[in-house]
Amino acid sequence: MENEVMNTMPRIGDMAPDFEAVTTKGKIKFSDFAKDKWIVMFSHPADFTPVCTTEMSGFATRKNEFDELNAELIGLSIDSIHSHLAWVNNVKEKTGVYFNFPIIADIDMKVSKLYGMLQPNESETAAVRAVFFIDPSKKIRLIMYYPLNVGRNMDEIIRVLQALQTSDKYKVAMPLNWKPGEKVIVPPPKNLDEMQERIDGNYDEKIDFYLVKKNL
Ligand code: BEZ
Repeated sequence: MENEVMNTMPRIGDMAPDFEAVTTKGKIKFSDFAKDKWIVMFSHPADFTPVCTTEMSGFATRKNEFDELNAELIGLSIDSIHSHLAWVNNVKEKTGVYFNFPIIADIDMKVSKLYGMLQPNESETAAVRAVFFIDPSKKIRLIMYYPLNVGRNMDEIIRVLQALQTSDKYKVAMPLNWKPGEKVIVPPPKNLDEMQERIDGNYDEKIDFYLVKKNL
């Protein structure tokens, strides 16, 4: 049907679908938004709800850490701009926390459907708690989906952004529970020469040629 947006599910490695939207910071065209920066785009089910308020406050109070990581925040829910404005103002008045990043008013569900944030078996009217990590080339690099009743973990959201950026910069991989400052994984060998190099090389930690760690 003309103008109908399919409920699509972008995947890791896909280019982030482009869209235009009304936000609490004015209209945006996503392809022009935050050029040369990482983007952390997240949805919440509804304004004026408790879990969402704690999550949005978490993004707001730690925005300086996203700034330091060259990342822009953008929120979304299937609410009107009037609801967003009233909620932002209410939280600021009640707690002093100001949601100082754009929040998309996705009242026609266009962006939610484009990004697979509307998962009808969880809710037909509210977006799930999604987080998309989008790199400066606008490629989707990591996706989180949480249900309506479980809030996300801000430490983990910041940790995976740091992990993606460190992996890109040093061409390494991150082991279980990796945190900045800890050893990273040397990518496993792809040929016999690389295998021999791992066997002979002097690394900070070596279990065998396929599991080698080093400090950065
Ligand atoms: C909440 O944010 O508290 C919430 C929103 C939608 C459904 C359930 C909980």
